[in-house]
Amino acid sequence: MRKKITVVGAGNVGANCALRIAGKELADVVLVDIVEGVPQGKGLDILQSGPVEGYDVMVTGSNDYEPTANSDIVIITAGFPRKPGMSRDDLLMANYEIVKNATEQAVKYSPNAYLILVTNPLDAMCWVAQQVSKFARNRVIGMAGVLDTARYRTFIAMELDVSVESITALVLGGHGDTMVPIVRLTTVGGIPITELLPKERIDALVDRTRNGGAEIVKYLKTGSAYYAPSAAAVEMAESIIKDKKKVLPCAAMLEGEYGHQGIFVGVPVKIGAGGIEKVYEVSLQPEEKAQLDKSAAAVQELIDVLKQKTGQ
Ligand code: LAC
Repeated sequence: MRKKITVVGAGNVGANCALRIAGKELADVVLVDIVEGVPQGKGLDILQSGPVEGYDVMVTGSNDYEPTANSDIVIITAGFPRKPGMSRDDLLMANYEIVKNATEQAVKYSPNAYLILVTNPLDAMCWVAQQVSKFARNRVIGMAGVLDTARYRTFIAMELDVSVESITALVLGGHGDTMVPIVRLTTVGGIPITELLPKERIDALVDRTRNGGAEIVKYLKTGSAYYAPSAAAVEMAESIIKDKKKVLPCAAMLEGEYGHQGIFVGVPVKIGAGGIEKVYEVSLQPEEKAQLDKSAAAVQELIDVLKQKTGQ
């Protein structure tokens, strides 16, 4: 049987997820959006790229969830993007409704799917999806760390004029201004970055990474990034579909790790056919732990607002 991946939201992130999934022949794709015609049109367009690109999977679009039945993975990208000057957190209540509804519908038709969340504010939206689906934590995974790490690696590669492939890095924490790139564990071909760059340059790269999403929003003016976010979400989906067991930084529900309980933050996880197969608890320096706690507190604040406003 062919694998099936549903992508909820046929905007830029969702459409690019669909295109990448098709391009890698990971699964048949169902693109879902509330706007009539858009998922159907984009789905058909992606399908018609197959003969040229040389991929052969089915891509369809729909305004309802029936065709999504029995998906192996559901990637939720639906929601409002940021405008210049907005933080991801400003999207909280508007996107809560969207993610709640998408999760309800998706799990009704695909009760055994893995959920990959992309909608912002990411960590809080993961919590919403988990509350609504009641899925165990291995089945609700947030895309943030892969993107943030990709940006960090890009900036380091540009700075040092080396291949991005040589750079290994880990970004922890929430997908927000408080994210925590762990400089101590950043290496270039195995060499600690601290041996290659002075502290102020590293600080500048960390800062640019933290503001990496906003930098793109500022350029685009009418939306946020989508090429790198879709690449990141599809790397996670691929690791599940192919049981690759990649170790990637993803938003996962903590169950005591790092001293936190019941909230989603970015941590290194192993992703395979069982979804999150392991959460790695890295021993952190006091300063790193303090930054992670601060980031977790920022996520907790959003969850508290949601709990208060929705009684969930
Ligand atoms: C970004 C958005 C997708 O970081 O959160 O670009």
